[in-house]
Amino acid sequence: MTTKLTMDKIVNLCKNRGFVFPGSEIYGGFANTWDFGPVGVELKNNVKRAWWKRFVQESPNTYGVDASILMNPRVWEASGHVASFGDPKMDCKKCKQRFRADTLIESHSKGSVSAEAMTNEQLEAYINEHHLTCPHCGGFDWTPIRKFNPMFITSRGTLEEDADKVYLRPETCQGEYVNFLNVQRTARAKVPFAIAQIGKSFRNEITPGNFLFRTIEFEQMELQMFCKESDSMNIYEDYKSKALKFVEDLGLKSENLRFHDHDKLAHYAKAACDIQYNFPIGWQELNGIHHRGTWDLSRHQEYSGKNMTYVDPFTNEKFLPNVIEYSIGADRLTLALLCQAYDEEQLENGETRVVMHLHPAIAPYKVAVLPLQKNLNDKAKEVYSLLSKEFMCDYDEAGSIGKRYRRQDEIGTPFCVTIDFDTLENDTVTIRDRDSMEQIRLNVNELVAYIANRIKFN
Ligand code: GAP
Repeated sequence: MTTKLTMDKIVNLCKNRGFVFPGSEIYGGFANTWDFGPVGVELKNNVKRAWWKRFVQESPNTYGVDASILMNPRVWEASGHVASFGDPKMDCKKCKQRFRADTLIESHSKGSVSAEAMTNEQLEAYINEHHLTCPHCGGFDWTPIRKFNPMFITSRGTLEEDADKVYLRPETCQGEYVNFLNVQRTARAKVPFAIAQIGKSFRNEITPGNFLFRTIEFEQMELQMFCKESDSMNIYEDYKSKALKFVEDLGLKSENLRFHDHDKLAHYAKAACDIQYNFPIGWQELNGIHHRGTWDLSRHQEYSGKNMTYVDPFTNEKFLPNVIEYSIGADRLTLALLCQAYDEEQLENGETRVVMHLHPAIAPYKVAVLPLQKNLNDKAKEVYSLLSKEFMCDYDEAGSIGKRYRRQDEIGTPFCVTIDFDTLENDTVTIRDRDSMEQIRLNVNELVAYIANRIKFN
């Protein structure tokens, strides 16, 4: 990469190549919403599948759920969201735009200041001392900071007067806590065991518009490990390592990753840390690992009246398990992977090629089939039909072969298979490697095994 990576470069590539489009674009957009396009949806699905494989399929004693987005409103009283969950926001008096004070500070300090645990007074003091101006109009005339509850409210009931207030969940983990007893009973699970899920969450967030980094609708991949207090710190440390290894295995470079231990903890928490990634907007949280003690189960026990006690089948000991939470945003991780993969390479002929060095296991398409000429299309479609039974496969017959390679490089396709006249003669094809651009010749019947072997994750 010869020039600096900016978020604009990523956004432009995403829009032009079908990764991500602005939400409701033909209506002028809808702030902080984004739609995944044909290429992006494959990438994000692959990221989610990789997480599920690692943390559910390959993790003994981990059970998946898919809980409702709409939950009994008492859940959000128990979780504390109704009473206290709120972002510190302030308005620019000049242009009337609203901003989160903590994110303004974090982007100003490029992630070196953690504003999350600051009081409103500390936030205001920092903003005044560093003269943080409005990112929209450049003014410096702020209202005092106030907390806004970021839960989206909707209602149920057919007549308005019957309507009950319900919330779109702001995090998926409550669906895991409320199913603790169900999963434990039906899976005959013994602590330590975990409940995991992937699903949409919604937050009425005001953001400075950093693409997928912070949006109002996003997907979380969350896991709650229920354990004895005596095991809890080891499990917490273990998930820190597992979480780091996972994102490194997906392709994030270790020099762009760091742990950030929280200096201030919630009153119930015993430890908390984030893994931060060095985004083009600076070091920012990628995921969180939190030791939540018995807070969640005890609150649901109190608010639901249901006994959440676990009975140890060996010792008959009765206790509320501690919870270690590991939580990562699928969209935010996808953004990090896009940033890490983006490269502009200077070629020997003086051209620049944009290439996405995505790990083949998460690349949207594993292979593209490219006939050299139109009269090779029938054979090319035969090869496409063979490969698409096994892999997400693209087919492109338009334009020069050089342009077609470039397009595949820009969406991160690890292999291009070219059909030429020799293919008709001896059933061999050229297969080109995205990263080295080297080409080898293979028999068509060797293709599936060759590609399968080269795209493995682990
Ligand atoms: N249950 C714990 C919880 O939700 P969080 O730190 O608020 O904790 C966890 O969120 C992860 O979800 C974050 O590390 C981030 O990856 C992702 N996330 C949170 N808010 C987001 C948003 N507005 N847009 C995109 N991703 C978000």
